[in-house]
Amino acid sequence: MDDPNCDAEALQRTYANFRYVNAVVSGLRHTYRRDIRPRLSAGAETSLLDIGSGGGDVARSLARWAARDGLRLTVTAIDPDARAHAYAAGQPPLPGLEFRRALSSDLVAAGERFDIVLSNHVLHHLGGAELGALLVDSERLSRGLALHGDIERSPLAYLGFGLGTWPFFRRSFIRADGLTSIRRSFTWRELAAVAPPGWAVRREVPYRLILRWQAPAIAEPRRAEGRRAHA
Ligand SMILES: C[S@@+](CC[C@H](N)C(=O)[O-])C[C@H]1O[C@@H](n2cnc3c(N)ncnc32)[C@H](O)[C@@H]1O
Repeated sequence: MDDPNCDAEALQRTYANFRYVNAVVSGLRHTYRRDIRPRLSAGAETSLLDIGSGGGDVARSLARWAARDGLRLTVTAIDPDARAHAYAAGQPPLPGLEFRRALSSDLVAAGERFDIVLSNHVLHHLGGAELGALLVDSERLSRGLALHGDIERSPLAYLGFGLGTWPFFRRSFIRADGLTSIRRSFTWRELAAVAPPGWAVRREVPYRLILRWQAPAIAEPRRAEGRRAHA
């Protein structure tokens, strides 16, 4: 699907099928419950950026779950790929959800900030310098939390995905690209070795890695109080 000349119908089916694959392998519901929902409120708006949104199902699920929970969340989903953007933006609209054709660096250049920044299945697409740039962008774009989720490479993940998808997705790139993605993805040790200071790698089931960064807490006021107390 990365080939600009790939079959257009198979590509559309691939975007449409991402939601089924992500429902099984992305762990997104768990990430929403544990990391995102506790930061949302019914009163104040929280903003979230999905980097590399592809077919848009991750952004759509998050917007839908927050609305169902009565919590206010605006979701901006970006992808520089014109075909991905056209597919995602062409789906039925949801309140608070916006798709934009952009790179994370475009938003940094425009000075945009979000409470939460995340991506799903983007890391394994990137070379070393691109990965570093994405993480720098994430820190600049996030006021609070950044989470990059991806597959963890392992022979069992490869075998399981190969067998599990074998009867399905025949007329899309899901199976072939998924297997390539697993071969390209990181192990825990590899991702931990390239994670910059401030980033931590968490391992999750099934064969998931979450690269996590949290904005440093501002501790100055407490220190000032302490100095006053000793004055
Ligand atoms: C495999 S797709 C992931 C799609 C989607 N997140 C999902 O889980 O189905 C990876 C996408 O990341 C996008 N991408 C890569 N680097 C990016 C960046 N710096 N900013 C925005 N999008 C990026 C690519 O254009 C591609 O569409």
